[in-house]
Amino acid sequence: MSEQETSLKRHSGAAAFQYRGEENALDFLEGSEGERGADITRFRRNTGIVTYDPALANTAATTSAITYLDGENGILRYRGYAIEDLAERASFVETAYLLIYGELPSQAEHDGFSRALSDHSLLHEDMKRFYDGYPMTAHPMAILSAMVNSLSTFYPESQDALNLEERDRTIVRLLSKLRTIAAFAYKKLHGQPFTYPQNHLSYCGNFLHMMFALPTETYEVDEDLVKVLNQLLILHADHEQNCSTHTVRTVGSAQTNLFASVSAGINALWGVRHGGANQAVVEMLERIHADGGDVHKWINLAKDKDSDFRLMGFGHRVYKNYDPRARIIKQAADLTFNKLGVRDPLLEIALQLEEAALSDDYFIERNLYPNVDFYSGLIYRAMGVPTNFFTVLFALGRLPGWIAHWKEQIEDPSMRITRPRQLYTGPHQRDFTPMSERD
Ligand code: ACO
Repeated sequence: MSEQETSLKRHSGAAAFQYRGEENALDFLEGSEGERGADITRFRRNTGIVTYDPALANTAATTSAITYLDGENGILRYRGYAIEDLAERASFVETAYLLIYGELPSQAEHDGFSRALSDHSLLHEDMKRFYDGYPMTAHPMAILSAMVNSLSTFYPESQDALNLEERDRTIVRLLSKLRTIAAFAYKKLHGQPFTYPQNHLSYCGNFLHMMFALPTETYEVDEDLVKVLNQLLILHADHEQNCSTHTVRTVGSAQTNLFASVSAGINALWGVRHGGANQAVVEMLERIHADGGDVHKWINLAKDKDSDFRLMGFGHRVYKNYDPRARIIKQAADLTFNKLGVRDPLLEIALQLEEAALSDDYFIERNLYPNVDFYSGLIYRAMGVPTNFFTVLFALGRLPGWIAHWKEQIEDPSMRITRPRQLYTGPHQRDFTPMSERD
């Protein structure tokens, strides 16, 4: 029995499944918050059939002690701590430590962790040359993923995923260097010189400095923006078995190293149905603005089943009530816009859209509320982050979650390689036709 399974309650034979006249007993497993799942690990062996669950929407693919999410009641907790508390009272570095190591750090642990993050902030100078090979049109998520994979070539000791001594060093390296990789990608795509990390700055302050400082001017890190960035990264830091985290776990289940597993997660996050949504929100608002700003026309289009237009930033696979992160982010948006004195016409459209959708029966009946991405893109835009970089910021926030899940899985003695089944729907066996006889 794995360590995580020890907090699981097993209800033996609590249910039964009848198939071809035979009754097969099923155990129920109960998690620490009372969530129940039918244990089907022996289902195929006992019945000869598989279960069918496309997109795994009804399947708990693992046990996990990292994040608790209750979509019906709008609850999100990391290691038992409410997202609202963490966003208000913790830093991103503390939250990362909590997710990865399971407890909030003591002062000494925090200082040691922060120092290690500072010590590993530089990239190997040879990696800088990789940036020269990308065209100016490159999407930064492609650069991010390739660079993270490349880290494994500079630290070959990380390739042994089971090496405990190296694991902590690899974790710190990745957490620290992803900031530098992301900021250097921004500089490359804007034709600006790289700004090296300044280790006296905080994690988020350092990132803003590397992104926006130029050798020609003094750059003052704005502590209000540091606070907002901390909050945004915390809100994105984990979300249990989402698409990219599931990807990291799937790749990691082959005992693939952390850099390569996270590189795969970055690619999953890139998609518009996942991390790409905040970019899609701003692009949608730009489209509505360019079209004259009639939000009702677009609301009607989103409801029209003959159109494939969806209101970006609305709806969530898991939150069918409200997304608790969306409330916090709305306050962060107010702080950012007031601080920077931003008067963004897209914000006006966003507010009108939100109001109109929330009072529309179509959205009410389907429980479609604004999700975390509805405002995050607008905040990043106000900070001066270009649209195609929003998902990069999401990746920076999600990194501790990916690491925590990879680590939890690799430390689980019962870990097996992920290998789902399928229901084959292709042709029956047929004879090979030589090329000369084909139509
Ligand atoms: N606009 C209009 N209608 C919508 C929307 C939307 N944004 N989202 C869902 N619906 C409708 C669907 O058409 C469907 O209607 P029907 O019952 O009449 O057929 C119903 O609501 C249920 O939708 P599903 O697609 O079944 O919901 P699912 O849980 O599969 O999808 C998803 C969730 C992908 C997030 C969806 O709501 C969506 O595409 N939203 C826009 C993209 C977005 O904001 N993604 C970010 C997700 S958050 C994140 O990754 C951090």
